[in-house]
Amino acid sequence: MVAVTTIDSLPDRLAGELAERGLSVVDGFLGPELVTLLRRRGESLLADGRMRPARIGKGESRRLDRDQRGDLISWIDPVEPDPAEAELLARVEEVRLALNRRLFLGLFDYEACHALYRNGARYRRHRDRFSRSGRRILTLVSYLNEGWREGDGGELRVHLPDGGIEVVAPLAGRAVVFLSDRFPHEVLPARKERRSIAGWFRSRP
Ligand code: OGA
Ligand code: MN
Repeated sequence: MVAVTTIDSLPDRLAGELAERGLSVVDGFLGPELVTLLRRRGESLLADGRMRPARIGKGESRRLDRDQRGDLISWIDPVEPDPAEAELLARVEEVRLALNRRLFLGLFDYEACHALYRNGARYRRHRDRFSRSGRRILTLVSYLNEGWREGDGGELRVHLPDGGIEVVAPLAGRAVVFLSDRFPHEVLPARKERRSIAGWFRSRP
């Protein structure tokens, strides 16, 4: 059911799917070695107490709401990424340049965080950008879950403009890419540890 793009056909297929429907699922976006290194990095951030409860809202209304959003996150430092993060950012940069050549999205940079959902944590229905406010243009989330199985929870449910729903399993190496203002989406409660790198291509400040 899920339209899957593989790494060989990037970036033409990615650009084509984004132009056509604003959403694409890319399997094998990250190789297994990089997935392992990024997962370990997330684990060591957790062990060091550097994964913190994520907040919702902007400005004055920024707050913790663990029912609305229950993940722990740690922002990647774009200036001093660790080696695994640097490799991910290089991969993402190739995509940014390729998309800018093919589409007119004006992707300027990419902000990203390690995210961990566990003990039933979820992220209820939301958008990553409300029209006009904010710089987020395109969401790109990479998944790090080796051996994810039906029943583990943590699927991404994307609400499509035609009323349909696309369910994306958070499989290791897979990336999901979509226009940040177009699709309400939610992360279903995770019954097993669910790790990802969530990120957003932004417009020029
Ligand atoms: C987010 C988000 C989706 C996912 O962090 O805003 O919606 O699948 N993440 O992790
Ligand atoms: Mn989101």
